[in-house]
Amino acid sequence: MRGSNYLEIKAMRSRLVAGNWKMHGSLAANRRLLDGLKLGLQATDGVQYSVCVPYPYLAQVEAELKGSDIAWGAQSVSEWPQGAYTGEVSGAMLRDFGCRHVLVGHSERRALYGETDKQVAAKFQAAQGAGLIPILCVGESLQERESAVTEIVVGRQLAAVLDSSGVGSLANAVIAYEPVWAIGTGRTATPQQAQAVHAFIRGVVARQDAKLAAGLTIVYGGSVKAANAKELFAMADIDGGLIGGAALVAEEFIAICAAAAKA
Ligand code: 13P
Repeated sequence: MRGSNYLEIKAMRSRLVAGNWKMHGSLAANRRLLDGLKLGLQATDGVQYSVCVPYPYLAQVEAELKGSDIAWGAQSVSEWPQGAYTGEVSGAMLRDFGCRHVLVGHSERRALYGETDKQVAAKFQAAQGAGLIPILCVGESLQERESAVTEIVVGRQLAAVLDSSGVGSLANAVIAYEPVWAIGTGRTATPQQAQAVHAFIRGVVARQDAKLAAGLTIVYGGSVKAANAKELFAMADIDGGLIGGAALVAEEFIAICAAAAKA
């Protein structure tokens, strides 16, 4: 690849493993899961752990995780600071419950709820305005991959945020590459497929700010499991993972975090 110098830069980047619980959980199930995570996850230099949970459980997660080595966050945020937006939740509200992260532009939000690139960019800006770290999700569908337009799609999704917030905003953000065809399908991108898109993303950012791009945390999501995490996280431009199904099982999530700590 690009020689040991590049791996040294990788070692300096902060890594993140974030769980996306999606619409799963209950007070009782969360308690068991969080107890397991607290026992299994201790601070590791250069690696952060986080869980992005459904809104109603933020108070529970804050109470359980305060003082632990695990951060928490939400799965979406309103693009507006407040007002008559029934059903929406603002960034300031998430901060009230100690959130550090928030997912923005997850493919399920884009595909099922019609979130546009413009809206995602506005949510990204709103999240940062409230002091949250947005985890900006980008990724192509199966049809787009098969039509060889992955870079066009991911480039367009990135450009929406770069154009509205500027490249400097990425200093306080994480990017998650999540190929839609690998989400919840058990069909993981190969480490080489994922690495190629991660390198593309870093390259797009580097064209505007090379130093920032070198330090940018880019995580992979899509059927990451304990069994495949190590080989994915070993790639030069993969700095951790955004984990769906496997984040609901304490031992799996802990093992994935351990793989990131060793990468
Ligand atoms: P799975 O890990 O279940 O494929 O989900 C990935 C995802 O969408 C995380 O945001």
